[in-house]
Amino acid sequence: MDEVKQRIEELRSILRESNRRYYVDNAPSMSDMEYDFLMHELEALEEAHPEYASPDSPSRRVGSDIDVPFGANAEARTGGEFVKREHRYPMLSLANTYNIGEIEDFVSRADKALDIPFSYCCELKFDGTAICLTYSGGRLVRALTRGDGVRGDDVTENVLRIGNIPHRLQGDFPEDLEIRGEILMPYASFDALNREREENGETLFANPRNAASGSLKLSDPQEVGRRGLWCTLYHIPAQSVAFDTHSEALDKAASWGLPVSEHRRLCKNTGEIKEFIDHWDKARRDLPYATDGIVIKINELSAQRSLGYTAKSPRWAVAYKFKAEEVCTELLSIDYQVGRTGAVTPVANLSPVQLGGTTVKRATLVNSDQMAALDIRVGDFVFVEKGGEIIPKITGVKLSLRPEWALPAAFPSLCPDCGTPLVKQEGEAKWFCPNQDGCPPQIKGRIVHFMGRRAMNILAGEATADQFYEAGLVRTPADLYDINKYQLLCLEGWQERAADRFLSSLSATKDVPFERVLFALGIRFVGESTARDIARHFGSMDAIASASREDLLDVPEVGEVIAGSVYDYMHDENSLKEISRLRDKGLRFSAEAPAAAASERLKGKTVVISGNFSISRDAMRELIVANGGKCSLALSGSTSFLLAGTKPGPEKLRKCGQLGIPVLSEQEFRNLVGASPAEDEEPQLNLF
Ligand code: IVH
Repeated sequence: MDEVKQRIEELRSILRESNRRYYVDNAPSMSDMEYDFLMHELEALEEAHPEYASPDSPSRRVGSDIDVPFGANAEARTGGEFVKREHRYPMLSLANTYNIGEIEDFVSRADKALDIPFSYCCELKFDGTAICLTYSGGRLVRALTRGDGVRGDDVTENVLRIGNIPHRLQGDFPEDLEIRGEILMPYASFDALNREREENGETLFANPRNAASGSLKLSDPQEVGRRGLWCTLYHIPAQSVAFDTHSEALDKAASWGLPVSEHRRLCKNTGEIKEFIDHWDKARRDLPYATDGIVIKINELSAQRSLGYTAKSPRWAVAYKFKAEEVCTELLSIDYQVGRTGAVTPVANLSPVQLGGTTVKRATLVNSDQMAALDIRVGDFVFVEKGGEIIPKITGVKLSLRPEWALPAAFPSLCPDCGTPLVKQEGEAKWFCPNQDGCPPQIKGRIVHFMGRRAMNILAGEATADQFYEAGLVRTPADLYDINKYQLLCLEGWQERAADRFLSSLSATKDVPFERVLFALGIRFVGESTARDIARHFGSMDAIASASREDLLDVPEVGEVIAGSVYDYMHDENSLKEISRLRDKGLRFSAEAPAAAASERLKGKTVVISGNFSISRDAMRELIVANGGKCSLALSGSTSFLLAGTKPGPEKLRKCGQLGIPVLSEQEFRNLVGASPAEDEEPQLNLF
């Protein structure tokens, strides 16, 4: 085969795989810059060799986020899909460049092509995941992801839980409005989420953008609400509105209560555009969310219409992308930290260096494979990057500065805390200390986790757990309940008031709901939302303890790894002893069903439910029955409608299509029976 053709095919296949990792798995396989360079190489080759053009080349298509079951990311592995709906107008991507010369070319092309006066609206390029919102009569009725640009996933129920997205518009809003933007995870939420995932032994999100798109596709809307997502809106398709300019459309959107960024500026020429770029290349470091460039749009909608679109992007806009900030500093030493699950994480101690507005002294080396891949050595000068991520990452070694004495870093074979030989299970990236019941950081970590705000909410932190451990008072969470006031007052720094506060927070744990008790046990891979799913599915600790691995696999979002971990925990002698002691202390070991509202509105209706809802499926069935309806497991000619939560079964959706059975979302259903949303609406704050 001719060399060019071979390279084109190679590039197409690399880019397709990279698209899948980025959009579907939320686990990117290469940096944005690498991706953009390969894409530009492909575009240049295809332009020079039109004989090899292909309509399904990644250069002609928008990367697809459409959810497929069993992606690599554990959170995408749900065994179900979202309902897909067609976009009214295709949702396209943007042409991008890292080269300011290409921005100048864009400006001169526009100057030549347009014979009307026009200006440029420069905006931040937000680094999240694209969303398209539809308001009808001022109510938010639909939220679709970009999908493949033509059809997107219906994530309305999840979007309704995002704090700064209004459910209703205010002022002189149009009857029908379609508006597009980005869902973001601010750094603070991203940090908190990853800290929690690390504690639970779950895989970490690579950056806030992946965390945002992973969270938007969760099957539990309540969990989405807890993830601290934010939205910013930046585009009203020009076909759908009667404005003269883009900036006027955004100002109007802001007046209807929609979150629109103030950080935009109208520019007349390249000089002003460059000023805007230079300003934000530095100032963006102070923003609470990630941006990866500047978008330059022609502001006049008539000019936009006359320039039109390519197959993939508008000709009236271009994105200038910032290079990730990187510094080079000396690696002074490596610590090996043992977490509560026994996982050993290598952490680099660096010669302090300024990066992204903060002093960086430590960076994660992730695991032993990553260390080996970098061939990292103490004494090396290493590149540290803080792209979208808050936790700095070592991305490479400057070999020309390697001192002669530098030896390869040897990952320890013994636990640095208790000396037990470390183990690594097949398929695991991390080494573990197996001495669960004797390794101090693991014991203390489990106690800290149990006491945590989102677990049992006991008024004590890491320092107290240390103190209890050192004093020999506590080895497992159940020991906490045996501590008396006299013992507390014997500890350094404890006074009567602190002791009373601690003891009363301990006694308040008897009212903590079962799902949080299950989470507090610290079972590996069982984070907050998994604990909730399992608790709701089984309803009690006894039911979980007697469940088989197969039974556990029936829980949505639970795969082999989680099922295995729960099963092993529930069959471990020490865990069972601990559970039995906690039961004796009076903790809640079963869930309570929420009371359902009553009406006759579903009289004579047979409903099939599929997917996940903001309340448990049992509670949803109760709600149907309480409103006079009947629930059925299978679809048939007598089914009145399918009540589809997030990620309903694809088979069920197909069958509804064939039989002409209507599909209702949770919100539509709630409107029908007149039930209020399951939770109070979040206050609408505006970060932008
Ligand atoms: S305008 C027709 N404006 O970047 C295209 N997009 O890499 C309308 N993005 O697909 C998009 N910030 O998801 C626009 N201020 C902004 C943006 C923005 C981020 C995203 C958007 C787009 C992607 C392209």
